[in-house]
Amino acid sequence: MNDTQGTLYGLGMGPGDPDLVTLKAVKILAGVDVVFAAASTKNDYSLALAIASGHLPENTPVVRLDFPMTRDPAALQRAWRANAALTLETLRQGRDAAFVTLGDPMTYSTFGYLRRAVLALDPAAKVVAVPGITAPQAAAAAAGQTLAESGESFAVVSGVAETGAIRAVLQAVDSAAILKAYRCLPRIRDLLSEMGLQENARFVTKLGMPGERINVGLGDVEDNPSYFSLILVKKQAG
Ligand SMILES: C[S@@+](CC[C@H](N)C(=O)[O-])C[C@H]1O[C@@H](n2cnc3c(N)ncnc32)[C@H](O)[C@@H]1O
Repeated sequence: MNDTQGTLYGLGMGPGDPDLVTLKAVKILAGVDVVFAAASTKNDYSLALAIASGHLPENTPVVRLDFPMTRDPAALQRAWRANAALTLETLRQGRDAAFVTLGDPMTYSTFGYLRRAVLALDPAAKVVAVPGITAPQAAAAAAGQTLAESGESFAVVSGVAETGAIRAVLQAVDSAAILKAYRCLPRIRDLLSEMGLQENARFVTKLGMPGERINVGLGDVEDNPSYFSLILVKKQAG
């Protein structure tokens, strides 16, 4: 490890409410030399920045890291290598940097890609993840529904996964949070109906932002809701 090199912090900003940022993240934001945020066509990254801005000293430089919204692995690799090189340049100047991300940095976050790419270029780089409150945790609190108790098992599933894969997880567990429940909402609604789980499901959208809403049952939920939407599924009410 190089002691003259700065540290890259992956900071979880929580799902929306700026009061749900941890004290540790606030302390780090107050002291870093630069803030990085991923720029993409999806707006969760600018939301992470908006949450962080309330905790940032006025003159902290903010650098947006571009990455393409593509599934082309070569294009993604190139973009993340370039972003990692830019980040390392900052660290090698002895400056500390924070990469801000929605929710938790180790859960469905672009920080995972950046972390891997930085360490691939320099295995001795100082990279620290600071956990954040995840969207399913905040959704459970808002909906008044426990995620798991006693011997129950709980799973986090991506709504963009194949229907069969989601079905298999739901069959295996007592409780689940289905993230990324926006474009695929009709498909998930059909699956939950088929499994007899639709009426008791909680649809939670735009937590901590204007338009926050919770629906019990998916019957009244629009077919193409906000990107900031998830579904809590619980086999036993509670
Ligand atoms: C790429 S994942 C990011 C997860 C995040 N890293 C976390 O730890 O919660 C984006 C998904 O998280 C969920 N999500 C994030 N913020 C949310 C919010 N404020 N309200 C509802 N769902 C949210 C949605 O399912 C969204 O499609």
